[in-house]
Amino acid sequence: MKRDTELLHRGDKPREWYGAVNPPVIHASLYSFGSLQEYLDAGEGKIKHYVYERLANPIREVLEEKIAFLEKTEDALALASGMAAISSTLLAFLRTGDHFLVVSCVYGPVRAMADGILREMGIETEYFDAAEAANLAPRIKPNTRMIFLESPGSLTFDIQDLRAAARVAKEHGVLTAIDNTWATPLYQNPAEMGIDLVIHSGTKYIAGHSDLLLGLVAGPKELLARVRQVARLLGGTLSPDDAYLAIRGLRTLPLRMERHQSSALKVARWLEGRPEVREVLHPGLPSFPGYELAKSQMSGYSGLFSFRLQPRGEAARHRFVDTLLELFHLGYSWGGYESLIMPFIRYYTNDPELRAALGIDDDTYRISIGLEDPDDIIACIEKALAAWAQA
Ligand SMILES: Cc1ncc(COP(=O)(O)O)c(C=O)c1O
Repeated sequence: MKRDTELLHRGDKPREWYGAVNPPVIHASLYSFGSLQEYLDAGEGKIKHYVYERLANPIREVLEEKIAFLEKTEDALALASGMAAISSTLLAFLRTGDHFLVVSCVYGPVRAMADGILREMGIETEYFDAAEAANLAPRIKPNTRMIFLESPGSLTFDIQDLRAAARVAKEHGVLTAIDNTWATPLYQNPAEMGIDLVIHSGTKYIAGHSDLLLGLVAGPKELLARVRQVARLLGGTLSPDDAYLAIRGLRTLPLRMERHQSSALKVARWLEGRPEVREVLHPGLPSFPGYELAKSQMSGYSGLFSFRLQPRGEAARHRFVDTLLELFHLGYSWGGYESLIMPFIRYYTNDPELRAALGIDDDTYRISIGLEDPDDIIACIEKALAAWAQA
């Protein structure tokens, strides 16, 4: 059976659900027992019985089975947000005295966590450039515990060599984790390339409708058991209603991703031909520095990319963005049905060195291409560029 067919039905049990083709949403904080024996047997793990919502809920298990299937891993865990997934993973494995290697293009709050709580706990974080992932051996120390990757990065889409990073990590007994949100489990399966833990902000494409937060971790059973244990203590539990919506999102994920992919490539190619545009940063364009590596690791592209306009000053920026709002939304997330623009003006302004290293400036914009007709998207950007030129 093809993957997209199996995804639709995997983990579903209509016969146990009164014939319903979708899982029932069970609202429960507690699950009661029918006898003292049942209570004792459940406590000793002799029978499968739900106990308490923070530990497990039937609908989350359906979602987790579908994610493990997509990521080709033994197990998966669904949590209340992408950051719940990331923080639970880091706190499950990092201890005082450990050395933590993190790609410099990583999602901002991961940096905030490493430079804040983790540093205070005595964990030393060292950032490396995305290109260095091809040979991380010189960075490894005797106390290096984990390498954290995000490929493509979600600002300028820097690609890291996942196979090479996994190989070096294995040689040195170091764990690897990746934020795989951009590619989705449809277009990149890092576990197949040797990465241990695969994390998603399912808030983005998997949920797909900008109406919930979702975090996912996929990997081998043994490692997931540890993340699950920490996640239960931290309490970032995914609600059954949001688990339901996430499963509904998965039903159309392959269809939506095809449209995000084709529309974004169309818009990116169009932007590349415009004189107002200095550079387009999209891993699917041959002009993109990581194009070949991206092609060797991913089977498709999502709808999020960035572009740089010629410098033209503040008034032009306002005209450009405000004209885009006829169709685009302006905001920070991505991966929803709606097209969205995010200017980098406010990003890492307190760290000009990092800003420069990440290739971010005031005339660089990130767009998330939604499910609208791509011709309408292009017409809107064309109008915004005309307004920009007149400023
Ligand atoms: C690449 C990436 N990873 C992780 C996250 C965090 O996910 P969440 O907002 O679901 O906690 C985000 C959110 O924007 C993100 O863009």
